[in-house]
Amino acid sequence: MRLPGGCSPKCVITIFSRRVLRSYVPVQGRWRCNVAAFMPEAAGFDGVSTRTALQDYSVSNSESFWAAVARQRLSWIKPFTTVQDCDLSQGRIKWFEGGKLNVSVNCLDRHVHTCPERVALIWERDEPGSEVKITYRSVGLDYVYVCLSSFVILSMSLISFHSHLLEMTCRLGNMLRRYGVQKGDCVTIYMPPCPLAVASMLACARIGAAHNVVFAGFSAEALAERIRDAKSSTVITVNQGVRGGKIIKLKKTVDKAVENCPSVQQVFVAARTDNPVTMTPKDFALEEEMMKEDVVCEPAVMDSEDVLFLLYTSGSTGKPKGLVHTQAGYLLYAALTHRYVFNYHDGDVFGCVADIGWITGHSYSVYGPLANGATTVLFESTPIYPNPGRYWEVVQRLKINQFYGAPTAIRLLLKYGDEWVQKYDRSTLKTLGSVGEPINTEAWEWYHRVVGDRRIPVVDTWWQTETGGICITPRPSEPDAEIVPGMAMRPFFGIKPVLMDSEGKVLTSNNTSGALCIAQPWPGMARTIHNNHQRFIETYCQPHPGYFFTGDGAYRSKEGYYQITGRLDDVINVSGHRIGTAEIEDVVNLCSAVAESAVIGYAHDIKGEGVYAFVVLKKEVNTQSADLSKQLNDTVSMKIAKYACPDYIQFVKRLPKTRSGKIMRRVLRKVVERDLNGLGDLSTLDDPAAVQEIIQGHLELC
Ligand code: PRX
Repeated sequence: MRLPGGCSPKCVITIFSRRVLRSYVPVQGRWRCNVAAFMPEAAGFDGVSTRTALQDYSVSNSESFWAAVARQRLSWIKPFTTVQDCDLSQGRIKWFEGGKLNVSVNCLDRHVHTCPERVALIWERDEPGSEVKITYRSVGLDYVYVCLSSFVILSMSLISFHSHLLEMTCRLGNMLRRYGVQKGDCVTIYMPPCPLAVASMLACARIGAAHNVVFAGFSAEALAERIRDAKSSTVITVNQGVRGGKIIKLKKTVDKAVENCPSVQQVFVAARTDNPVTMTPKDFALEEEMMKEDVVCEPAVMDSEDVLFLLYTSGSTGKPKGLVHTQAGYLLYAALTHRYVFNYHDGDVFGCVADIGWITGHSYSVYGPLANGATTVLFESTPIYPNPGRYWEVVQRLKINQFYGAPTAIRLLLKYGDEWVQKYDRSTLKTLGSVGEPINTEAWEWYHRVVGDRRIPVVDTWWQTETGGICITPRPSEPDAEIVPGMAMRPFFGIKPVLMDSEGKVLTSNNTSGALCIAQPWPGMARTIHNNHQRFIETYCQPHPGYFFTGDGAYRSKEGYYQITGRLDDVINVSGHRIGTAEIEDVVNLCSAVAESAVIGYAHDIKGEGVYAFVVLKKEVNTQSADLSKQLNDTVSMKIAKYACPDYIQFVKRLPKTRSGKIMRRVLRKVVERDLNGLGDLSTLDDPAAVQEIIQGHLELC
């Protein structure tokens, strides 16, 4: 009898853990994956005895697969009556209709019944060694007994709401209700990763309000734009953020934003630091208001397709779009991918170091882990504070089992050398994950060899804000699965990727590249763009009718493995932060000195992509270019965020344009890549001499 990998059962016993062994059973003289031990929901799938068969089943019997998983993974108040009602060509996506549930109950109450003392959140604060642990529990009798004197009430309640997630959530839910937030409203959350931010998200879910978390690095204008689009009456923030040893004046940013948001009636301000901030009549101290509330909050009964949250992200044109995710499908997909992509098991400590302002933080710091009853880490700091060993010191101190981070941080850390990793014990690690941008082979190898001691699988996970959860990924839960460095590898359960050629035909062979689409709906996908379903249809459903278009290109290898080759549109990825070049151009063009501009991404050692701006000034402008560069950078920082600021600004007399006036960004990219032989046919340009000037200017600048 042979096991996968060609070993005999005897030698395998010494290699595989008992958990892995349980996953294999002898079937007709051969060791087969015990699919039901691997995925209990699969027990009823007829004829499914291998994981490959399970993958095939999940795609070809998608309804039966997702129905079984949804029934067993989620707690329903009322069971669903239909599994899906989707038509990608119409942009109609509905899952588990008829079903009623509450997401916060799924993430909290059911674990409070089974493991109340388990730590739900570890808040790894900026100051190393000052982590705060929050259990799932709500307050029990011990709390009631100590409420005997007012002094004890105050001191105990402060301790309590900083240690029990269900209680914090309930108090916040009641507080929001008292201030008039109703089912269907949208609350904007502008906070760094911290327990009160997570409790605020869950409190919204508890009372049936949607949340709109805005990354706390966004400027006042970017925040205001998102508050206005979401029509939030309520904002939750902190007085100040603390990151990399620096204080960030978040409340000030909110004050500025709210000036231009007539919908906002109240701002709740949590105290991250002891420094007082100016409070306006609209402002309320969050902790004080919470403490007035009961620790029990009746959960709202939600339909599967009610909105859970909006999350704004950049597209290739126009304003950022508020992608809408709904209750059941999103939660199910986040939970299932968290369990199987990372090989998460009960009791593990899961360390996703993304900010909660991005989809990675939503799905893998908050919803996926909490739905699975995990202990999840909220990381407030930076990879190099107070030194480049920070991540691995945290892994050692918190005994992290799965670490999930971005290639940009890995590239930065590898430059500091191996000793910063090797001095810390990483023996608890079982999976290393990468997300948000392509991971180059050098960074992948270092992550695997140095951080993972060649022992730990690295999973390069591809997905997007739109997909809700990981779609293409190696799966370490398959111990024998091959992982090729730098490749996202295989589709997750229920995902059917296809590549399209430029004429919109499906490419069926391997060893080919094309536009990456997904051929059938899955529960975690976004349902629409807030206030603009037409834009949703045009962006994702119309480019390849009947398919979900991702905007990315991909290569499928001879073996059928996927590698993401990058965006096909004008979206770039700066340090894992997604931004549309058109968004930056719009801001640059606002400066009074600027006639027009063209922004492109270029390969950057650490950031993955950097921002390069070509700027044409108005004829009458004669300011020094250094002053202008600063002015332009300040404007981008003020209107969007610091990460969107151009690394290079090249002032040019004119931009290369076609005769119809279209800017030839392709030519600009080739100049910056120094691929002058690849400039292509310039004869269609209105003024080919412009290119020579641009090349000359570029060589002088860089
Ligand atoms: O271009 C892809 C890139 O990030 C985009 C999605 O960005 P966002 O919605 O901000 O979500 C980031 C976190 C999921 C994708 O369209 N991307 C994401 N993961 C990868 C990636 N590119 C290459 N490899 C990846 N693993």
